[in-house]
Amino acid sequence: MKSLFISIEGIEGAGKSTQLAFIQRYLSENGKQLKVTREPGGTELGEAIRTLLLTPTETGMAVDTELLLMFSARAEHVAQVIKPALERGEWVLSDRFTDATFAYQGGGRGIEQQRINELAQWTLNGLQPDLTLLFDLPVELGQQRVLSRNQGVDRFEQEKVDFFQKVRNCYLERAEKEPQRIKIIDASQSIAEIEHQLTRILQPLL
Ligand code: TMP
Repeated sequence: MKSLFISIEGIEGAGKSTQLAFIQRYLSENGKQLKVTREPGGTELGEAIRTLLLTPTETGMAVDTELLLMFSARAEHVAQVIKPALERGEWVLSDRFTDATFAYQGGGRGIEQQRINELAQWTLNGLQPDLTLLFDLPVELGQQRVLSRNQGVDRFEQEKVDFFQKVRNCYLERAEKEPQRIKIIDASQSIAEIEHQLTRILQPLL
């Protein structure tokens, strides 16, 4: 059976990290060789770009700079990590991928989807996840969870409710257009219920 590329997505506070650990355990226990990675990041250079993207600055960042840095990190990630792992027959589990750019830079920042598509075609050459798990929850609930972590907020977490509402809507619109690939998980449920939903989706793929 061919190796699969799975991405996970969602607004801040959706509980991706907790669920990523569950998915990782579930797939490993079922004998899958798994490369777990993240965006922006996943390579030495990509992690340096991540720091640039997430660190708040006095002067801010132009939206095009943000978009291009996301794709710079992604080009490196695909070349150094994702493609080689898939070619070796491993499964890849990435905490975010290009859907995040459509949602945050497209939906949130208002960059035209067409421009993002052009960059995606240029850098990815058609590569996209076989499965995307979208952890969805109301923005206010996500924000409460972020604040209750009691740690500093990054450049994106500083954004207002309205920004995350647009990000969430864009994710949901994408899921509606591509229901085969993008599966919505109700992240406002209990951890046990979420794990149950995940198992239902993943089990047939094993
Ligand atoms: P994380 O909080 O999931 O680690 O992701 C870091 C932030 O980067 C998060 O706020 C979403 C944002 N992001 C984008 O804006 N565009 C992208 O393409 C990616 C991959 C992440």
